[in-house]
Amino acid sequence: MTRITVETDPRGARYDVSIGHGTLTELITELSRIRPTKTVAVIDRRIAEVHAVTLNRSLPRETLDEAFLIDGSESSKSTEMLIALWEYFARQRLDRRSVIINIGGGVVTDLGGLAASTYMRGVPFIQVPTTLLAQVDASIGGKTGINFGGVKNLIGTVTQPSAVVVDLMLLNSLPEREFRSGFAEIVKHGMIVDRSLAERLASRDCRDWNTSDLDAIVLRSIEIKKEVVQKDPFEGGHRKILNFGHTFGHAIESDALKSEDALLHGEAIAIGMLAEGQLAHEAGMLPAAELDLLRSTIWKSGVMPPVVPTFNPARIRELVLKDKKNTHARVKWSLITAVGTARYDVELDSALLDKILDTAPVWLARS
Ligand SMILES: NC(=O)c1ccc[n+]([C@@H]2O[C@H](COP(=O)([O-])OP(=O)(O)OC[C@H]3O[C@@H](n4cnc5c(N)ncnc54)[C@H](O)[C@@H]3O)[C@@H](O)[C@H]2O)c1
Repeated sequence: MTRITVETDPRGARYDVSIGHGTLTELITELSRIRPTKTVAVIDRRIAEVHAVTLNRSLPRETLDEAFLIDGSESSKSTEMLIALWEYFARQRLDRRSVIINIGGGVVTDLGGLAASTYMRGVPFIQVPTTLLAQVDASIGGKTGINFGGVKNLIGTVTQPSAVVVDLMLLNSLPEREFRSGFAEIVKHGMIVDRSLAERLASRDCRDWNTSDLDAIVLRSIEIKKEVVQKDPFEGGHRKILNFGHTFGHAIESDALKSEDALLHGEAIAIGMLAEGQLAHEAGMLPAAELDLLRSTIWKSGVMPPVVPTFNPARIRELVLKDKKNTHARVKWSLITAVGTARYDVELDSALLDKILDTAPVWLARS
């Protein structure tokens, strides 16, 4: 097992991310060390079904029997579910020395993290991410949230967990499309800070890595997320580079929520990286050869969705203008200037966005 320590506070606040095969069963040891007044679990329904044996070995009996089960779908990130969790915590008589364990994908870690961080002004919580996306991204860095008014993650907090437990064995049951979606965030990590990782990822389809190579790739990706959030826990500046692909990506993800071809988060980010790479190129920030490397990495690693939904340019423009990162009604882009180098708070002429929207079939063509 590997441990990565995330230090998010100059006064010494820190938490460990434990990564390995079978790490979840160590949770019970960790709990007997912390000795919380009460331990409750918020668990993705699918995980409760598929990994019942592992959960039995990892959690106290009472915790498992009374666990709160959540459907791992974007619609669970709602005010209704947030209230339902607060009610559950009240029924379970949690106090501020209790522990909440969130076991699931980004939906469960975002929702459970928000519920934990707001109940009694904050009850300690442990994140146990079960999708690739949540393991390399959503569970690390303390962002929690739900969707509101049709906008992704509009309500949330930045609250660090007490620990993150990454059990790579849980990925064995992850559907292929979910795996590819999570891999898109790994590609993004390469694009923004690690050129050699990006070049490596361009060498084959993400399903073709053997276990030890994949483990190393996941570990590097977690390290990158840690390095970025540690420098800037509250997204005052540097952390914004993680938003590469996300302004356009969130817009297209929100738009697709209503369509038949709903996009997984990572799929939307893959499209977002293509769009924002093209945008950076049109703005004269990203040389053609670098754009080619970005495009071929996205296509060759296999992170694009099976079907790219058709989108309405006017609606995407409107959603981009509503993005949470904007200030003073100006869109703030996080873009790459080369593969492995990113910049944030980039303001561009709005005509460039129009051009990208009008020429989508060209930059969306397979390379
Ligand atoms: N907080 C952050 O920093 C951050 C970063 C990135 C994404 N997110 C959020 O994460 C969410 C997406 O998370 P996700 O991609 O993990 O999706 P998810 O939580 O919806 O899980 C995807 C699907 O996989 C199932 N599942 C989960 N683990 C499984 C396993 N091991 N085996 C089989 N099935 C499994 C779930 O039931 C669900 O159907 C989005 O809401 C996004 O906004 C948050």
